[in-house]
Amino acid sequence: MAPQSGTPNTAIVGLQWGDEGKGKFVDVLAAEHDVVVRFNGGANAGHTIVVEGEKLALHLMPSAVLNPDCELVIANGTVIDPAILVEEIDLVESRGLSLQGRFHISSRAHVVLPWHSLLDGAAEARLSDRGEAIGTTKRGIGPAYADKIGRSMAVRMGDLVDEAYLRSHLDKIAPLRQEEMKIAGNDTHIDTDALLSDLLAHGQRLQPYITDTTWLLHDRVNDNRSLLFEGANACLLDVDHGTYPYVTSSNASALGISPGTGLPAKSLGRVVGVVKAYSTRVGGGPFPTELDNDIGDRIRDRGREYGTTTGRPRRCGWIDLVALRYAAMVCGADSLAITLLDVLSGFDELKLCTGYQTASGQTIDRFPPDARALEGCTPIYESHPGWSEEIDTCRSISDLPSACQSYLESLQRHIGIPIQFVSVGPDRRQTIRWTEPASCSRESCCFRG
Ligand code: IMP
Repeated sequence: MAPQSGTPNTAIVGLQWGDEGKGKFVDVLAAEHDVVVRFNGGANAGHTIVVEGEKLALHLMPSAVLNPDCELVIANGTVIDPAILVEEIDLVESRGLSLQGRFHISSRAHVVLPWHSLLDGAAEARLSDRGEAIGTTKRGIGPAYADKIGRSMAVRMGDLVDEAYLRSHLDKIAPLRQEEMKIAGNDTHIDTDALLSDLLAHGQRLQPYITDTTWLLHDRVNDNRSLLFEGANACLLDVDHGTYPYVTSSNASALGISPGTGLPAKSLGRVVGVVKAYSTRVGGGPFPTELDNDIGDRIRDRGREYGTTTGRPRRCGWIDLVALRYAAMVCGADSLAITLLDVLSGFDELKLCTGYQTASGQTIDRFPPDARALEGCTPIYESHPGWSEEIDTCRSISDLPSACQSYLESLQRHIGIPIQFVSVGPDRRQTIRWTEPASCSRESCCFRG
């Protein structure tokens, strides 16, 4: 199964609550891989990539789009709003980047329809009245996955290029959805003809890219191509393994790769877990190390912690090693990429959460199984000295202030996994390679030279 190139198939997944800076590492590691694959989520994700000063904010397109040598796949486990995808294709092509022959969309991926966003908003409004809002991105992600699981009301990408089927299917499901929406107190009129015509127009634009990506990915594996799996959202937002119910609706940990691509689990060679040097969370849900104070505000300002998709200010806090140990375990992380370390310059003291005290006074170091259990936990901290120097121009571990080096060593020791990369700024060059993965034998590694 190992590719001839020497690069094992690699997954890049977030180990916190999203926004860890995965896009930068996908972009960087794409140089060592042949195919970049998205396997979960939809336009709830947002990644900004910066290369030589060029900035691109994307939601659905794989982050490696700027690398013309990479094939890009949006696989079956995703949910796709075709209007957003068409916009992104136009944006990318307007930069002179060609997608012809190198971009593939699974015909099995599910379509996010306009009513999914309406249902998402309505559900959030209901929950909000009870003070229980999930704080979704309102991109229709949950309702689209619910229809996928429910089976009878779903539309898949392959349906967009089958006019006769789509017309008869919409004729059946639109009135039912209209009824459901009415019962839920939403009287937005569904114009089936207009919807059909929009979907067919999008289908026509996307047709060159829609294919059976399960076969395509198996073909690439059989041709010894190396694959890079790009996780969207993050492990603690995984519908099965995250802080349920304050999660997204897909398997956003590395465990989503197999069902989300059609490749067997053994296809995965290594997993890089991406971790912010502190913690953030957008939306509702428990967050034991949250800093609702000046320190949290300072992290937010320095880290420009505002959502790429929604613009919402992110909740900020100290790094949570209990959560990280759990997420690294669930994802099978082989190494870590620590991001946004430069944001922590200028703090006198940094704190690392190494355990929790439960509501009943028990000390635990195992992450609890759901939001209710986590809500009663208060963090137990280890204090660490800060550093005053800015570190964004550091290019090796020895360039970093000694307190900063020792902060990284503490993270590595507590999580029990080697730190492979350290990011000190958004640019690809602002990346320090620390430990060398034993499995990477490529001469032309992107971090050398
Ligand atoms: P949904 O995925 O839009 O249904 O949102 C569910 C929860 O996941 C909300 O708390 C969102 O803020 C969060 N979420 C979803 N995608 C991301 C992401 O890419 N980064 C951070 N949070 C996310």
